Amino acid sequence: METKRASWASNLGFLMAAIGSAVGLGNIWGFPYKMGKSGGFAYLAVYALLAIFVGFIVMASELAMGRKTGQGAMGTYHALTKKFRWIGWLALFSPFAVMGFYAVLGGYCIEYMALNLSNFAFGSESLATGGELFAAMLSNPAGAVLFAALFLALCYLINRSGISGGIEKFNNVGMPTLFVMLVVIIIRSLTLPGAMEGLKFMFVPGYAVEAGFVAETPSLLSVFASAGGQMFFSLSLAMGAMITYGSYLNQKEDLVKNSAIIVFADTLVATMAGIAVIPAAVANGIASGTPLDQIKLGGPNLLFVTLQDVFRAMGTAGALFGVIFYLLVLIAAISSAIALIEVDITYFLDRAEQKGRKGNRPKVAFLVCLAIFAVSVLVGIDGLGTTGVFPWPATAGWNDSMLDFVDMLSEGLAMPIGALMMSIMVGWEIRPQTVLDELHIGYTGRIDTFYRICIKYITPIGMLLVLAGQVNDFFS
Ligand code: PFF
Ligand code: NA
Repeated sequence: METKRASWASNLGFLMAAIGSAVGLGNIWGFPYKMGKSGGFAYLAVYALLAIFVGFIVMASELAMGRKTGQGAMGTYHALTKKFRWIGWLALFSPFAVMGFYAVLGGYCIEYMALNLSNFAFGSESLATGGELFAAMLSNPAGAVLFAALFLALCYLINRSGISGGIEKFNNVGMPTLFVMLVVIIIRSLTLPGAMEGLKFMFVPGYAVEAGFVAETPSLLSVFASAGGQMFFSLSLAMGAMITYGSYLNQKEDLVKNSAIIVFADTLVATMAGIAVIPAAVANGIASGTPLDQIKLGGPNLLFVTLQDVFRAMGTAGALFGVIFYLLVLIAAISSAIALIEVDITYFLDRAEQKGRKGNRPKVAFLVCLAIFAVSVLVGIDGLGTTGVFPWPATAGWNDSMLDFVDMLSEGLAMPIGALMMSIMVGWEIRPQTVLDELHIGYTGRIDTFYRICIKYITPIGMLLVLAGQVNDFFS
């Protein structure tokens, strides 16, 4: 008897899940900061061009390939190519690396949410500063590991309930909630005195340097590499996630339209997240007399030091905004994490099916989460490089913590190489028509010439430039 493969209950549910996978920590701390540092609107323009000519094309390709084969990333590459099967292994590995730090950061979000909740309930006189709190948290590896376990347990509960019963249900509620909370935080942020300085940091070209927020304007190549890397990570590409989600999608749905919506929504939320956090961080820094070049506007510090100080300065109401904000970030993190975890779950379930067995989803989900947890323990006890457990070279900016190290392996290497190879494979080995045939099942408009040119030339050249820029930044 043939068992039917699981599927999304509706196209809207699929969209919520795919947008949920895209919208994550990358939108909140990566995009706004890189935008401000690298030229404001100019960066947004470079990012948008890359998103249209590379991101959208790779998104549509991944969804199409997954749906065509009805298999996760590994199975899809096995079914479609002879020369590039090994890309499947990259996709299998990346989720472990990214989830290793995602779970630790998700755990910190739970801690901060609980903290703000207790401040709200029990009063918040004599609160520690964001810096003191974060330092205390980093130097407490047991806490980090415990809360990472809690974060993974939440993900496990969702993944074990399946595609429509778990992932889709969570995102159907989570995404609209996240959006509303984001609007609440934006309103609060923009009404703080000094907020305009933050907006200028983000949008006015050159202002970040002029006003002293950052030291110098990065080179064009490094802007390109930064925008390209950010775009891939942000859209959840080249990690098998979109192939996997596509493999559960009904044949009749329009993949071209879906891809455009996902790319647009992710970029919109990244911009909105910037408007929510940067003005608040800058306003608070100015109010407390912090020199502009010392306000941290990116990375874990933005989330766990700078913004916590913003909420602290607002007293009891601030604690409430803190709860809302860290819950928002937590939802964004979970909806991304469950996509990554699903890549590996689907791999094992596909394999069981090929051997004629029906895989046990709860059991597989548990084992995948457990393996990820092992990586999280390493990231957690390293405390972003502050505990000295691992001997990171003190001088090298590129890997001075376990987080940076696993990020370099996944986001820095596996992703751009995987994307480059995938575009060469589609453009030159299996030919663009294979993907176009699948796209045209639900889409009747014109896309062929555009798709062919992008996948054969523009995407690989773009990826090569991104890689070149990353290698260049790596050695300078
Ligand atoms: N897109 C997520 C972010 O912007 O934080 C990260 C991510 C999630 C990457 C899922 C890859 C993935 F499969
Ligand atoms: Na994103």
